[in-house]
Amino acid sequence: MDASGVRGDKVRIQVFDTTLRDGEQSPGASLDEMEKLEVAKALEALGVDVIEAGFPVASPGELKAVQEICRQVRRPVICALARANPVDIEHAGEALKGASVSRIHIFLATSEIHMRYKLRKTPQEVLEIAREAVALARRHAHQVEFSAEDATRSDWDFLCRVFEAAIRAGATVINIPDTVGYTTPAEYAELFRYVAAHTEGIERVVLSAHCHDDLGLAVANSLAAIEAGARQVEGTINGIGERAGNAALEEIVMALEVREDRYPYGTGVVTEQLYRTSRLVSRLTGIPVQPNKAIVGENAFAHEAGIHQDGILKHRSTYEIMVPERVGQTSTRLVLGKHSGRHALRQRLAELGYELTPELLEATYRRFLEVADRKKHVTDRDLVALVEEQQAAT
Ligand code: KIV
Ligand code: ZN
Repeated sequence: MDASGVRGDKVRIQVFDTTLRDGEQSPGASLDEMEKLEVAKALEALGVDVIEAGFPVASPGELKAVQEICRQVRRPVICALARANPVDIEHAGEALKGASVSRIHIFLATSEIHMRYKLRKTPQEVLEIAREAVALARRHAHQVEFSAEDATRSDWDFLCRVFEAAIRAGATVINIPDTVGYTTPAEYAELFRYVAAHTEGIERVVLSAHCHDDLGLAVANSLAAIEAGARQVEGTINGIGERAGNAALEEIVMALEVREDRYPYGTGVVTEQLYRTSRLVSRLTGIPVQPNKAIVGENAFAHEAGIHQDGILKHRSTYEIMVPERVGQTSTRLVLGKHSGRHALRQRLAELGYELTPELLEATYRRFLEVADRKKHVTDRDLVALVEEQQAAT
């Protein structure tokens, strides 16, 4: 085991949380200074390695929030975003001054579409800008991460030349973002292998994956990147972020944990804190978590079908690949509805203090199905009324 509890035979993956930067870019999700600080403390308790705390040039409040996080959150690396220009970089450096370990994250677009229409720069100019920006950032922070925005729609050889320039100028982390959620798992893995094989100096830096979910592939793409050599993975709690969001960190972490037979990788995340952190982020951003959301959704450990409930009552492993306690959810929930069977009804009634004879149970079950046909959920109060009605009738 290492200090973060990862088994010695596993490769350690750094978890980079950008809930407070990319996540906060979700429409309507903005957080004030105190809220950002509360989330940052929760992320520290969760055990993430890097917290991207914000984009300091955006506003004085944003800069102040990053400063306060640096002062109060000491274990993780604190990162601030900057475009590749001196004003952004100096604001980021200023915001990060008090961090125990600071990182400036520079991003610059490398795709033909972005260079032509957004930046209006030639590839040669972009290469020079990258080099100068990284060199400047190196003077303002302990670590520099360089991201080639829209990397997955960029020319692969050009991408490698830009990365080489960034590494020579002092970048410590090279990020290959799928900015518009366009890539597929096999293609993204191939890109990581290509960059690793064709970029001079790549062995001196950490390779990072950053995926968006426009095609619903962000988590799958992130896992493919890890298998292809990424040693840092970026994402947000609940997968919040621009448009369809970012890769959901809780899903990546639990995929690595649950499928350790397949993935020989570990993170420092305290998985029991996942649900609590998810609730906090949802409450503060005002973005609800969909009930069927993997890992942290209300229904992630709920079972309604009679066959499933019966299986769960016999052995939880029949229909659960992890126990809810492992991600901080309190318990498996058997939801009583029209798909439920006698077994689940008897169990719930016993929990409510009713031990019924087989005849009474049968009569109650028949009435229960009539009610369940009308109502989506049969509540405990409904059940008590049903049992008492049947008892009165006998
Ligand atoms: O999606 C993206 O390209 C980004 C960069 C700033 C890394 O969020
Ligand atoms: Zn992003």
